[in-house]
Amino acid sequence: MRRLTAETRIGAADLILPAFIREGLTEPNPIVSMPGVLQHTTDSLRRAAAEAVELGLGGIMLFGIPEVRDAVGSASLDPDGVLNKAIRDVRAEVGDDLVIMSDVCLDEFTDHGHCGVLDAEGYVDNDRTVEIYAKMAVAQADAGAHMLGPSGMMDGQIAAIRTALDAAGHTNTSVVAYSAKYASAFYGPFREAVDSQLKGDRRTYQMDAGNRTEALREVELDLAEGADVVMVKPAMSYLDILADVAAMSPVPVAAYQISGEYAMIEAAAANGWIDRKAAIMESVLGIRRAGADMVLTYWAAELAGWLKDVR
Ligand code: PBG
Repeated sequence: MRRLTAETRIGAADLILPAFIREGLTEPNPIVSMPGVLQHTTDSLRRAAAEAVELGLGGIMLFGIPEVRDAVGSASLDPDGVLNKAIRDVRAEVGDDLVIMSDVCLDEFTDHGHCGVLDAEGYVDNDRTVEIYAKMAVAQADAGAHMLGPSGMMDGQIAAIRTALDAAGHTNTSVVAYSAKYASAFYGPFREAVDSQLKGDRRTYQMDAGNRTEALREVELDLAEGADVVMVKPAMSYLDILADVAAMSPVPVAAYQISGEYAMIEAAAANGWIDRKAAIMESVLGIRRAGADMVLTYWAAELAGWLKDVR
């Protein structure tokens, strides 16, 4: 009866699996602060993508870790760079059976770890960065990505990417805008996952935790610029933002249950302090209840296997 009257459900198709591929690996590499999550090789990534199709997941979000980094993130534009190659490999594996999403951001590719290129004072240069994002987006669409995820919080990035995609003939490639992305302490484990070189923080381009109205302004800008999906990130500490955005957005809303949210539950569960499965279910159900149409979660595959148990 509880199932029959449930107000919120989780479906496999609502879930997106974030996945990391690292150039030069011969074996998948465990990420210590994210137990159960790997840096993939080409083969293991292809297997994970095939499994995602089997499980009926909605999508996969790819992040690449290059062997060589430089000040402007050149490897991001190389058609044979780690991420572009991974997109091609995954597309060859799954075709159109899974939405292939890819990260349009420079932080994995720069030797200073910022999401953009720096000016002479070491400040992230918004407009030069956006020019590079537009080229990255075309390279990723050329490689076969269905949906691009600009995660760098530069102003004007959605319009620049949309214009560049259309000019290159990629009119059917869509954009999931990381619209309300907060400068969060909970990204910690992700920085290990991508071997981040970042010193300092991203507060000049990501949002301050206390700002609620600003999130709606960011979403409105991204909608006006052509976003197909808008995202709130992180999820758990920002459920009010998610509810606000869901109430006003004419396009689907995504939420990203980030690395620190994953790590906290895994760590507490490993200590026997919480019931792991129940806590995972509750956390994702809460994100859906708050208004997310789709959820990026590192538990996507495992969770999809449990869904018949949802009450
Ligand atoms: C930036 C990016 C980050 C995450 C996704 N894209 C890190 C950051 O902004 O510092 C974090 C995801 C997570 O923590 O799980 N390209």
